Amino acid sequence: MSDPRIIVALDFPDAEEAISFTAKLDPTECRVKVGKELFTAAGPRLVEKIIGRGFDVFLDLKFHDIPSTVANACKAAARLGVWMMNVHALGGRKMLHAAREAVPTGSAKLIAVTLLTSMEHSDLDDVGLKGEPQDVVRRLAMLAQDCGLDGVVSSALEAAELRKAMGERFCLVTPGIRPAGASLDEQKRVTTPRQAIINGSNYLVIGRPITQASDPASLLRRLNQEIAGVEITPLPDRTRNDHA
Ligand code: C5P
Repeated sequence: MSDPRIIVALDFPDAEEAISFTAKLDPTECRVKVGKELFTAAGPRLVEKIIGRGFDVFLDLKFHDIPSTVANACKAAARLGVWMMNVHALGGRKMLHAAREAVPTGSAKLIAVTLLTSMEHSDLDDVGLKGEPQDVVRRLAMLAQDCGLDGVVSSALEAAELRKAMGERFCLVTPGIRPAGASLDEQKRVTTPRQAIINGSNYLVIGRPITQASDPASLLRRLNQEIAGVEITPLPDRTRNDHA
């Protein structure tokens, strides 16, 4: 497999655990995501090490700050050699433009978080956002697209609607994925890998079902087989990082 759609969330507390886990994975079978916990504990050297082992890294730090600070953070992430990074769409148009300028189209993929899926209607009222969560998600996704970003993170359940609204070339990255029969952990609204792809997702973020599996490599192979026959949405960009 040359262009894996599964991104394994490396939600580990330190570099040692993350490195010993990635040793069980094959970079042709998956990409990996480094988020706030692991990055805060282990820093950029760990990211370089994982990239050095051939993995495409999605740096999930959801930058949200004034435009120049976000632009500089994005440049630093691009220098690290990450394949994908994200910013928070609620940072607004100027911030999104600054991020895009810092990471030109065709280099690292730049996507936006719209609304965190933990936000419900009452949370939107609290922070003064109007409309239902799905309306806010669509509005922020359109803002991200308008500012030239490559895509958004979204719930796989909302992917079908977003795919329709945003067109074929917009990248949808979806967490909240559970293989049939797997534990839900605290995820409430989940989708199987196959259904997420059918809904129009390009990349599936999967954490604990894989990180806590007794044989992560064979589970990944099985999940890749499960989604292999469902090539409904072409990937917006089929090129991989040079590291891969
Ligand atoms: O272990 P699990 O598959 O639930 O991990 C999902 C990953 O996706 C975690 O790293 C989590 O932070 C991230 N995520 C999510 N829901 C969102 C955004 C990100 O689960 N709405």
